[in-house]
Amino acid sequence: MTKPYVYMTRQVSSEVLGLIQEVAQVGVWEEDRPVPRDILLQEAKKAVALYVMLTDRIDEELLSQAPQLRMVASMAVGYDHIDLEACKRRGIVVTNTPDVLTEATADLAFALLMATGRRMVEANRYLHEGRWESWGPYLLAGQSISGRTLGIIGMGRIGEAVAKRAAGFDMRVLYNNRKPRPEAEQAYGVAYRELDDLLQESDYVLLLTPLTPETRHLMSDREFGLMKPSAVFINVSRGATVDEAALYRALTTGQIWAAGLDVFEVEPIPTDHPLLTLPNVVAMPHIGSATYETRDAMAMLAARNLVNVLIGEEPITPL
Ligand code: GLV
Ligand code: GLV
Repeated sequence: MTKPYVYMTRQVSSEVLGLIQEVAQVGVWEEDRPVPRDILLQEAKKAVALYVMLTDRIDEELLSQAPQLRMVASMAVGYDHIDLEACKRRGIVVTNTPDVLTEATADLAFALLMATGRRMVEANRYLHEGRWESWGPYLLAGQSISGRTLGIIGMGRIGEAVAKRAAGFDMRVLYNNRKPRPEAEQAYGVAYRELDDLLQESDYVLLLTPLTPETRHLMSDREFGLMKPSAVFINVSRGATVDEAALYRALTTGQIWAAGLDVFEVEPIPTDHPLLTLPNVVAMPHIGSATYETRDAMAMLAARNLVNVLIGEEPITPL
């Protein structure tokens, strides 16, 4: 019996490849950049399962040309790159990689909060540029972290993990979520606020919400206008949850104090993007879950999901 064909849009590890090869014949995009769209479409025509990254768009155009496709295993927690409804209509199983990346992403979110509040990147640059001539009473002074109020928008697993870290810094934590979460309030000592109240009260606003039609440009002129002039905005969700032009205006008119961004509307963000010209922006190339341990775990979970579906078992983390 010939094994079903699986296409992987990125090389991960030989361990993961070996696991999938036990049940499938595997084609892999071997370059260290996202697979070009035309190649993905070609491969999808033959594939029973796709092992994809968040850079691969799985939409109606692709699905309508993939008659044998039964399963899409994505190596990411966010799934805005996948048309779930269209997959469901065709009976295609979709899986993501929650939980295994929660702690690493919370670490990065908190690191970005600290780096932005305390101007660490700007300070590092200052030193490298040979501008450090003497100690100064307000040299590169930033915002306090301990004792301040953190507002988390999107209180899922990552939000809870950030709340735990914030507790260690004696921060007061507010949250906004589609639905209030009394159990999280109990477990992590966080308090629910309407979005506008959260924005007005917080010293740090951390955006963790998934990208959906409802959260697209959730943060725009009106929302930044509600924040304190001393407030720091952090985005570790998806770039399109923020209106970047509005963020630029808020940062340059003193409406808010600084921003730490791990995600952008267009990725990679063009290097001449206005946001990258600002000293009060700390920018990261979408590395929220990027630790060796976590990426290994995500790659393996995506593979296990895929293999389970091919051998007729239940996927571990279906969407
Ligand atoms: C990263 O952004 C992910 O969704 O896993
Ligand atoms: C992601 O896993 C989240 O629930 O925040």
